[in-house]
Amino acid sequence: VNSHPIECTKQAIRSAIAKSRVPEDRLHAENTLEWLLKLNGDADDALRIAALGHDIDRAVESLRVRKTDFSGFDAFKAAHARNSALILKDIMQTCGMDPALQDDICLLVSRHETGGDERSDLLKDADSLSFFQVNLPYYAARNDWDTTERRSQWGYQRLSLGARELISDFSYRNGRLNALLARIISQG
Ligand SMILES: [Fe+2]
Repeated sequence: VNSHPIECTKQAIRSAIAKSRVPEDRLHAENTLEWLLKLNGDADDALRIAALGHDIDRAVESLRVRKTDFSGFDAFKAAHARNSALILKDIMQTCGMDPALQDDICLLVSRHETGGDERSDLLKDADSLSFFQVNLPYYAARNDWDTTERRSQWGYQRLSLGARELISDFSYRNGRLNALLARIISQG
């Protein structure tokens, strides 16, 4: 049992994500945490840890869920969220985290794609904002254009109205992505 379970957990999350094969995973984890704190500077420890670890599933090659194993994108995303929560549970137990805090963090992470309560909604917004700020150019480089468009529309739909205003300031080096973002915003 670690004497600082919260620090132990953050460190274990960061070291797991550092091993990810996906180049933007580390940036996205830190950037989601930054957005969380921009949206609410008083965000509690559970939310901060959930922000950092919400996508940990992607970084753990032996345990991660794969899009090709699911019939639809939402089913894949639900499994991804559940799996990230399970992986975090294991880390938190090892770090000796208070069980109630573990449960809270697991619930937040399992809801990060869909929201459903005020704190999960905040995490979802931070995650989506970070997708547009950090992930989209990497995503576009790895996927075909149709897939990138669909993913961006899906990402825009899950943003709150307040967050939609924030992304209208985003700009990319890739002009095609700027045009895509402008189109998505204008279509609402
Ligand atoms: Fe994410």
